[in-house]
Amino acid sequence: MSCLRAVRGLALAGGFQSLALLSRRVSFSPRQVASDASFHSVSFSESDHPRVLITGGLGQLGVGLTKLLRKQFGKYNVILSDIRKPPAHVYQSGPFIYSDILDYKNLREIVVNNRISWLIHYSALLSADGEAKVSLARDVNITGLHNVLDVAVEHGLRLFIPSSIGAFGPMSPRNPTPDLCIQRPQTIYGVSKVHAELMGEYYHHRYGLDFRCLRYPGIISADCQPGGGTTDYAVQIFHDAVKTGSCVCNLRPDTRLPMMFIDDCLRATLEVLEAPAEALSMRTYNISAVSFTPEELVQEIRRHLPDLQVTYETDPVRQAIADSWPMVFDDSNAHSDWGWKHNYSLPELVQTMLNLTGSNSRMLQAN
Ligand SMILES: NC(=O)c1ccc[n+]([C@@H]2O[C@H](COP(=O)([O-])OP(=O)(O)OC[C@H]3O[C@@H](n4cnc5c(N)ncnc54)[C@H](O)[C@@H]3O)[C@@H](O)[C@H]2O)c1
Repeated sequence: MSCLRAVRGLALAGGFQSLALLSRRVSFSPRQVASDASFHSVSFSESDHPRVLITGGLGQLGVGLTKLLRKQFGKYNVILSDIRKPPAHVYQSGPFIYSDILDYKNLREIVVNNRISWLIHYSALLSADGEAKVSLARDVNITGLHNVLDVAVEHGLRLFIPSSIGAFGPMSPRNPTPDLCIQRPQTIYGVSKVHAELMGEYYHHRYGLDFRCLRYPGIISADCQPGGGTTDYAVQIFHDAVKTGSCVCNLRPDTRLPMMFIDDCLRATLEVLEAPAEALSMRTYNISAVSFTPEELVQEIRRHLPDLQVTYETDPVRQAIADSWPMVFDDSNAHSDWGWKHNYSLPELVQTMLNLTGSNSRMLQAN
């Protein structure tokens, strides 16, 4: 059992006071553990590149991020992991390993054996899925997070965890939503994301953990199917528009939400990971690109596919979630601290998505 886990167990049994006493008595410092353990871990003076592990990497975002990071740091320095079996093209493209974030020992073994220095924690149950499976979402998004935090502190890792527009709630200012404001999300997903933000920031202050976090808007991509989020409609509509010329939207036509093309999201992730620590005045940043409603998206797609048919069949669970989320995200701190700026506005996003989904479906038809 790790020091941190032992301390945590005792603290649970005896309350915070005994944690304070214990940590004074054993002079426990995860930073010290990390420096003591440096014989086994990679450091930037030893290597030009970080050694990266991505958890939950087979979802909508992980495969694309892996590709980007491998370009930057080399194929064998970036390990993709998940609990699912990878498709052949992913398996053959570089290192893949089984990692269940609920299994602490498995996670630690991977970090130690592969001399990991950056951990990118993508495993999660997303908003709509989480409402359907609350207890599993609590396990993966909260218990799993604790494992990831512990392993990161113990081995001196740089830890990136994405948060979300879902970390805000109906009491938050919605247009625009700043970085710092009231956060009272009404989903288990949102609660777990606020928990991740606060725990990461606490571990940063308490133990010196190099925690970095971006609140992603809804991400739009062509390669992978979305993973059970409230903004899924904005991905599905492109596939349906290209394949059948008609689609069903499960949100009201006037539901405005912040969205972003995947290339912007992955670039932002790399940029914040590479930013010098002194540039970061905060540890959790909003990032933003565009905000649109389903109807505005449909109008833009119709500029290319004028015959697109759309029917609205509102899903009450997703609609209630969307109605509690930000409409426009204020990302001015990301802009001023580390120079964040999106490349894709709505017209470029739509044009690119139609090209990509069109060529994907042409490829499928040809095979
Ligand atoms: N996609 C978006 O629009 C969006 C928006 C905001 C934030 N995010 C965040 O970005 C991250 C990645 O999102 P995504 O869309 O790729 O998610 P996704 O749902 O597509 O993929 C999540 C992955 O986690 C894996 N997973 C589940 N349980 C696990 C476990 N016990 N151990 C290891 N892996 C496990 C799943 O197999 C899946 O491949 C998530 O943290 C999500 O909250 C995504």
